[in-house]
Amino acid sequence: MNPSATQLLMEVWTLGSCVELMSLTVFPVQPDEGLKRRVKEHWEKDPCAIRYADCADRDIVHAFADVDQRLYEQDNMRAEFAAFAKARDKKVLEVGLGVGSDLLSWARAGADVCGVDLTEASVNLIRRRLMAEGLSAQVMVGDAENLPFPDSHFDIFYSWGVLHHTPDTEKAMRQAWRVLKPGGTLKLMLYHYPSVFAYLIWMLYGPLKGKFVNPRKIVFDHLESPGTKAFTEDEVQEMLARTLVHGTPQTVKIQPYLASADLLTFELSDKYRGRKWQIIRQIYPRKLVKLLVGDKFGFFMTVEAVKPQFQ
Ligand SMILES: C[S@@+](CC[C@H](N)C(=O)[O-])C[C@H]1O[C@@H](n2cnc3c(N)ncnc32)[C@H](O)[C@@H]1O
Repeated sequence: MNPSATQLLMEVWTLGSCVELMSLTVFPVQPDEGLKRRVKEHWEKDPCAIRYADCADRDIVHAFADVDQRLYEQDNMRAEFAAFAKARDKKVLEVGLGVGSDLLSWARAGADVCGVDLTEASVNLIRRRLMAEGLSAQVMVGDAENLPFPDSHFDIFYSWGVLHHTPDTEKAMRQAWRVLKPGGTLKLMLYHYPSVFAYLIWMLYGPLKGKFVNPRKIVFDHLESPGTKAFTEDEVQEMLARTLVHGTPQTVKIQPYLASADLLTFELSDKYRGRKWQIIRQIYPRKLVKLLVGDKFGFFMTVEAVKPQFQ
């Protein structure tokens, strides 16, 4: 990346970190059922990506095939990271399902997949999708922080863009390790900081509104469901080390990516449909962001780690 752009980003980051020092808590991580209820309410009303579905004259299979295609095209690292085709006959647990794009991809690939989501909206929609395609998978309402499965049960634990929404991410991570078999793989996508999109949101809801608070506090208050977090790579490393009680995870791979959010190429939800966002999208210098900034400051961060064989 261009050194002056790097320097500028680091300065903004440092500024953010200084302000962070002044704010008491960026992430309240105590069990917070009130917050979880509000998270659930948010996703019950707006299952992630349902806005892409054009159900008007279309059957459910075709309407959602378009949604899936759009999701995989706009963030093409997702299917590659999931590696659905390698999961044939493996026991997969997916947590946080949205409209079920990945869950159906696991099922089509021949995985023995089970899905859990906090909301009835998501679970009911996915059951209809599975039935319409003649696919089978176990799908249920449940909570990432309290999974109803025995220890050492799954080969793959997968969760894309979810655990940063639950109030106690670390507890959810402990649950993920618990239900994974030794030698099983944890695959997550978490929001990343410092990142272009976090600063965009910060700029809009912070300085442009006369508020000078931590960028992560702005993400917490304004992005998607209430209480959304964005983590640094170091925080994820530390969380992985703390949550796996016995042994250290093998082959930890943490990789940030410039995502459709950073490039403003994703379909905006109602919350971001105002004139301000339309103008920003039109004048946004995507090519420059790609060229000068690159993946290191991307908003999506994939995390892959293997549970040790002997504990
Ligand atoms: C941003 S959407 C991501 C959905 C899907 N993985 C995707 O990428 O399209 C977040 C999803 O996580 C679910 N979710 C949030 N907190 C959860 C929790 N504690 N346990 C299970 N699901 C949760 C929401 O209901 C919602 O369906």
